Parts: sequence; structure tokens; C-alpha cells
Amino acid sequence: MKMLSPSLLSADFGNLQRDIEMLNSSECDWLHVDVMDGLFVPNISFGQPVIKFIKKHARKPLDVHLMIVQPERYIDSFRQAGADILTVHYEASTHLDRTLHAIRGAGMKAGVVLNPHSPVSLLEDSVQQCDMVLLMSVNPGFGGQKFIENTYCKVRQLKELCQRKNPGCLIEVDGGVNLQNAHLLYEAGADVLVAGNAVFGSDNPMQTISQLKQ
Ligand code: DX5
Ligand code: ZN
Repeated sequence: MKMLSPSLLSADFGNLQRDIEMLNSSECDWLHVDVMDGLFVPNISFGQPVIKFIKKHARKPLDVHLMIVQPERYIDSFRQAGADILTVHYEASTHLDRTLHAIRGAGMKAGVVLNPHSPVSLLEDSVQQCDMVLLMSVNPGFGGQKFIENTYCKVRQLKELCQRKNPGCLIEVDGGVNLQNAHLLYEAGADVLVAGNAVFGSDNPMQTISQLKQ
């Protein structure tokens, strides 16, 4: 599967509705929504009121990436705000199994995110509870960072783990994705790529979205 989830973190917040409408008419599959709390990551982005606004205008599923401590506190609230897919960091959730069940119980697809330093093997006993695993290919917190090359190897390891334990689980990659590495990531086994700067920093975002999916 070759899916693309442009990250609204790089959108023009002064023209958010315009950028969402551009994504509606583009070939992208989901809208990636980055929530940061200034604790789990050294940056603060936006929360539920902004997501409600995004939901009102978006005609595609919202792929909400929580970079917050104790994400289990806010599962229902992000569902109410409009999240369709909710991903939580392995490093931020002490009772991950319970959190994943709660996300599915609230009617969303559940995903786990691994930071660059966390090995794929950590998911041996939780991948069965996941609809998706997100591999960070930068240290989370900011858009526009450089892609970490070790990610290709992790995608292949994760593909092997999914084939063994949960063949339906999607593999998503987030951070530093661009026109140079996108096809290599799909080849390695990624199903969904997130792209912020590559899309919104380009002269023709609609065309870049289409090219990233080639
Ligand atoms: C980083 C976020 C990413 C970010 C990606 O912490 O999780 O989703 O927006 O931005 P680019 O594609 O510019 O690296
Ligand atoms: Zn993200």
C-alpha cells in the first residue's frame, strides 16, 4: 500500500482552512495531526479545539499523533475532537496494552509510535493489538529535520515482525520524508508516509503529494 499523510504542523496556521481544502482535493489519503505537550517533546503545537476545526473541514481521516505524556488521559477527548486513527508513543505509555484497547474501544484505529532509539523488538508483545505502527525517522518535536538513515533497516525489521504476528498492521514513517527517500521507504515495506516540510515547503504542494505517492 502506498499512502500519504501530510503533516499539518507545516501548514500555514493563518490559512488553515485553505490548506485543508487543498489536501481535500489532493491525492493524499489522511491528514497527519501532531499534538505536542512541551513535556514529552520540547515543543508545543495545538490541541482539541484546533482538531475540531480541522475535522469540520477535512474530508479524509485524521491521523492523530500524540507526543504527550500519559496519553491515556485524553483518549475519549481526542475521539470527540475527531481523531480516526490515534497513535501513542511506546516511551510515553506505561500500560500500553490497556491504552491500545481503550483506543479501539473508543472506536478509533490504534497505533504505537517508536522513537529513533527504541528497537522494533519492543513490540513483540503488543503488535497484535495495533492497527498501525509508526516509526519516527527524526527525533520528534519539530518539522523540517534530517531523515535518520537507520529507519530503512527498522522498516524491514518491522515488516518481518508484522508478517509473523499481525499481517494486517500498517507501517507508517514520520520525519524527514522527501522526494528522494519516499520510494525507498515504500520499497522497504512502509505503507503510509508522513510529510510536512516536503509538502508545504514546496512550490506546488498538490503535485508534490502526487509525486511522493509514485
Ligand atoms: C515531528 C512530527 C512530524 C513532522 C514531520 O515531531 O511528528 O509529523 O511534522 O515533519 P517533516 O516531514 O517536515 O519532517
Ligand atoms: Zn507526526
